[in-house]
Amino acid sequence: MMSDQTPVRSHHRLRFPNHSVAGRAGASFKPEHLSAIAAETAFEGFFEVHAENHMGAGGAPHAALAAIRQRFPVSLHGVTMSIGGPQRLDPAHLARFAALVERYEPALVSEHLAWSTHDDVFLSDLLPLPYTRETLDHVCAHVSQVQEAIGRPILMENPATYVLFPESTCAETDFIREMARRTGCGLLLDVNNVFVSATNHGFRAIDYLMDFPLEHVGEIHLAGHDEQFDDEGRPLLIDTHDRAVADPVWALYDTVIRQCGPIPTLVEWDNDVPDWSVLRDEARAAQHILDRHADHYLLGKRHAALS
Ligand SMILES: [Fe+2]
Repeated sequence: MMSDQTPVRSHHRLRFPNHSVAGRAGASFKPEHLSAIAAETAFEGFFEVHAENHMGAGGAPHAALAAIRQRFPVSLHGVTMSIGGPQRLDPAHLARFAALVERYEPALVSEHLAWSTHDDVFLSDLLPLPYTRETLDHVCAHVSQVQEAIGRPILMENPATYVLFPESTCAETDFIREMARRTGCGLLLDVNNVFVSATNHGFRAIDYLMDFPLEHVGEIHLAGHDEQFDDEGRPLLIDTHDRAVADPVWALYDTVIRQCGPIPTLVEWDNDVPDWSVLRDEARAAQHILDRHADHYLLGKRHAALS
């Protein structure tokens, strides 16, 4: 029996349809939804899978992913690469990640601008990093190493943060812009993370988006968050991925899509997972916004080109 640590490179190359995610909205793939998705006839979105759930050599996780990939585009999302951490990347983990990219030909590949302390997949263990020259150097080295291993650009995701580092010498948006410039990576804009961080630190989400290098965004995440209060009674939002997307996050997303056009969008739901129909309806709500702004965006681009 193969262990979970066994690289999957030895598998023969499967043939999958060459789907596009352009202008599409999708949802997290949860194995318990497999039969409901198999019965689905109208869904035209895509599914995001966590790389760490498919790093064994075979078995049920790969059978499920292969079945999904036959019918839909897939976004491969890494959680525990620890690209933001100071330690060198785990070569075995990176090899398994690269093997998944080769095996399933995902339409999108992403990881977090964060670091994790161990290999378990808990979102709360994604730790932020101080934004300094030194951390920028090792983040860029890690991003380049990942991109070299997978032979394509990766999308790096902005974090949800709960504390700020006094050591930081630049804004998160400047750090992300410089990372994209130096490595050629794309960006995964998590709009819920922007809203969570903005609320927790008392800045306006729209001000963050004003400074964010939106021209590099290749995917958007939406997710639900929990509303709590800190010891002084101030609002503290937690990026829980356990409920529907909140109204202010939808409003922010609408603003981004109106400005940037139909960027592929993924609704994340990882805890207290409801029936497939609930996730599907969240993805449909995102698709509605993408469709509503698509013509307006194309019209604006056309006239900009003519003027
Ligand atoms: Fe996210």
